[in-house]
Amino acid sequence: MNVTIIGTGYVGLTTGVCLAYLGHNVCCLDTDESKIRQLEQGHIPIYEPFLAEVMAEASRNLRFATSYETAIPESDVIFVAVGTPTGADGNPDLRYLRSAALSIGQHLKKPAVVVNKSTVPVGSGNWVRSLVEETANGMRFAVASNPEFLREGSALHDSLYPDRIVVGADESWALETMYRLYRPLIEQSFNAPSFLRRPEGLGAVPLVATDLASAELIKYAANAFLALKISYINEIGQLAERVGADIHQVAKGIGLDTRIGTRFLQAGLGWGGSCFGKDTAALITTAGEYNLPMPIVEAARQVNQRVRLRAVEKLQQELKVLKGCTIALLGLAFKPHTDDLRDAPALEIASKLMLRGAKVKAHDPVALARARQAVPEQGIVFCEDIATTLRDCDAAMLVTEWPQYQELDWKTLGATMRRKVVFDGRHFLDRQRLESAGMKLLRMHGDVE
Ligand SMILES: NC(=O)c1ccc[n+]([C@@H]2O[C@H](COP(=O)([O-])OP(=O)(O)OC[C@H]3O[C@@H](n4cnc5c(N)ncnc54)[C@H](O)[C@@H]3O)[C@@H](O)[C@H]2O)c1
Repeated sequence: MNVTIIGTGYVGLTTGVCLAYLGHNVCCLDTDESKIRQLEQGHIPIYEPFLAEVMAEASRNLRFATSYETAIPESDVIFVAVGTPTGADGNPDLRYLRSAALSIGQHLKKPAVVVNKSTVPVGSGNWVRSLVEETANGMRFAVASNPEFLREGSALHDSLYPDRIVVGADESWALETMYRLYRPLIEQSFNAPSFLRRPEGLGAVPLVATDLASAELIKYAANAFLALKISYINEIGQLAERVGADIHQVAKGIGLDTRIGTRFLQAGLGWGGSCFGKDTAALITTAGEYNLPMPIVEAARQVNQRVRLRAVEKLQQELKVLKGCTIALLGLAFKPHTDDLRDAPALEIASKLMLRGAKVKAHDPVALARARQAVPEQGIVFCEDIATTLRDCDAAMLVTEWPQYQELDWKTLGATMRRKVVFDGRHFLDRQRLESAGMKLLRMHGDVE
């Protein structure tokens, strides 16, 4: 099938590359010319494991474009995967979606399914339909919603081997078209890449076919649930600290109950990234339009905010005076294996520390270049290597659980620090390893072993 993907960010590029790998003829379109130029030259503008490898294997089915005129006319399916960041009023900013929908309509030359892959509030499918209609000149099209559940850092794995595929549409031909498109994924009939093997025992992938509104709500409901799971364990973590319980053991004891599950139950600095904050805010706003409060989702957001502040306060408690101190942040990306800094706890913690008069140095294995661009004015000293980051610091704070931070030689590094204090924001470092190197270890939720 001929597929166009609008927006070549974390979601659009991954989707385009995977559909090309499955054998579809894919055009990835972005209005950012520099991104498209890089992609045409084989450079990938984001850090995402295996994206380059899958892209290389799919290259004969993949092209890139900046103009709707060249991309849209031949398309059977057109995915919209543009950004929907939070606007000033807390609602998702839908201007990129609007512009994409109007441009699609203008260039439709044969019947096509327009698919919302961006996370958009309930009702957006209808809105997109009316926008495309404005410019489509009577050309037949249908709108579908196909929310994306990939996790940055394992996006290729999640896209090739999803837990489920959700497709919402109010017209049966749109659902049938989407079924044909995803058939190799649903049946897992494609040859798995040698470097990204199919999980053992993975059978057919469930296709959840719904109406438009249900598919749109599934995405928000799923993200809000994951966010509140993390906030829940952080709330319990605070109590664990007070009563002298070990939150690690508590989480294990809860999570092994299959009704609860162990995933998204890691206590620490809470969630960040481009989705959970934005999507929980949008869910609350949508519910507000129907005069419905969402106290559970509100509480999940509050706990997440509190945890970042609490990290700074705990460090302050240890160092007594933050003014004049230098703090080293290990990790900037909102989670490991990505360079995404959107709503990254590290950036908020850095500004809270600086507001209290501390100087902040920071390291990240892949996100430094993006950080220099994203927050040049913030005053963080970005360091290319860990030794420079830690030298002359009063404390180090582990913010992102990059595996290489588990292997550090604290004896050597600690000798260059002003005070040998490490704050582990993610319950990730090995206490024995640090203490035997003479370091003092503090943890986000208590210091119980
Ligand atoms: N990043 C994730 O992990 C993730 C997961 C699931 C869902 N989502 C959702 O997917 C959507 C995209 O997220 P992302 O992280 O890929 O965003 P992104 O910001 O990385 O990429 C968006 C891309 O769209 C392009 N764009 C904007 N307007 C355009 C237009 N009119 N025409 C063509 N291109 C245009 C931008 O230049 C950019 O390259 C969002 O709604 C997000 O909430 C993201």
